[in-house]
Amino acid sequence: MNELLLKNARIIDPARNIDKVGDIAVANGVIVDAAELKAPEVIDLTGKVLSRGFIDVHVHLRQPGNTAAETIATGSMAAAAGGFTSIVAMPNTSPSADTAGAIEYLHRIAAEQAVVKVLPCGNMTKGGKGEEMAGIGSLKKAGVVALSDDGKCIQDHGLMRHVVEYAKSFNLPIMDHCEETTLAAGGVMNEGKWSVLLGMNGISKASEELIIARNIIFAREIGWKIHMQHVSTRESVDMIRRARAKGIPVTGEATPHHLTLTDECVKKFDTNYKMNPPLRSEDDRQALIEGVADGTITVIATDHAPHTETAKLVEFDHAPFGIIGLETALPVCFTQLVVPGIISIPQLIAKMTVGPAEVLGIGNYDLSAGNAADITVFDPEAEYVVDKNKFYSKSRNTPFDGMSVRGQINLTIVDGKIVYRQGC
Ligand code: DOR
Ligand code: ZN
Repeated sequence: MNELLLKNARIIDPARNIDKVGDIAVANGVIVDAAELKAPEVIDLTGKVLSRGFIDVHVHLRQPGNTAAETIATGSMAAAAGGFTSIVAMPNTSPSADTAGAIEYLHRIAAEQAVVKVLPCGNMTKGGKGEEMAGIGSLKKAGVVALSDDGKCIQDHGLMRHVVEYAKSFNLPIMDHCEETTLAAGGVMNEGKWSVLLGMNGISKASEELIIARNIIFAREIGWKIHMQHVSTRESVDMIRRARAKGIPVTGEATPHHLTLTDECVKKFDTNYKMNPPLRSEDDRQALIEGVADGTITVIATDHAPHTETAKLVEFDHAPFGIIGLETALPVCFTQLVVPGIISIPQLIAKMTVGPAEVLGIGNYDLSAGNAADITVFDPEAEYVVDKNKFYSKSRNTPFDGMSVRGQINLTIVDGKIVYRQGC
């Protein structure tokens, strides 16, 4: 059956300022007027929230190169379970996604095995090494939706400026991992009270802030979009706020973990609290929340970074940076941001739909008839305990295991096809 009638849902469509109870009809992969349906499958969604499908602009799928940690198949299934209908695949695979061939490989595997839309991001530089520009024109032709050297950051400002100019001419947004390396070298956690107490090497906030400042200068000078990945400090949020007020085309994303955890967690010496940028202070966390609430931060993205158990089961100093996030993003943000009244449900949905769509230059990301039926439904009342052993992801490196949460994904629909269904 290729027709669906999704009945009695609380329909939230931030792009059109809609928040009302009603029905959404789907036929042949697109949203249609209910009158057009002939023999739909009817799903009652009383009490549930329905929105356009979530987009995660920051996902590491690890294929090719580290399929022990994740594959396009398992990562896309984890995305579906998290309510994401589109994910942007970061290029720091092995080999890197820095050539048209690598992008073609991703497209082919995704076409065969992915259950959600996998949008490739190409490298800005060859191998993500920050030395020589990648072939941006051929990456564009191959179908990348953005450019990033995530995991690393171009230190050569002259080269970065050239990349921004090329990105502009090829109409490709830049998504930058902001990290000045001399100020981060050897660090494993935030530089501050807790790194001193725990005797660990710190990563200074200035390391991120210097590059945010640089990127704002280039975005203004060149007049092109730069998206700051995983923003983590108060000053970074302030700089982005001031830049946006001046009309400079910069955006910022916050991760669920930076919004909910702090560097104090590292005292447990659990490597699932190690990521880059590191968890910061409570003051930084509050600043991120303020940024999300006042519209400075327009995107919540997971930085889903799978690592095998063996890779993470080492001393804190030696563990790789990164945690998974696709299957916990909605419940963690709902529980920590919506339940206490910090942001509303429509605001949270905006950060996971229109906000990311805008970064990618996708217009009209709403539920109007004619749009692709990429739809997410969740239950805002359902409570459960996060169990990492139930994840679809191949990896288990999450700090949220055992957490009591509210907000459960019920349905993920991609081009009219149900790819995940639970509890409805
Ligand atoms: O924690 C992180 N993990 N930060 C990054 O920038 C890269 C990512 C990864 O690829 O594991
Ligand atoms: Zn990064």
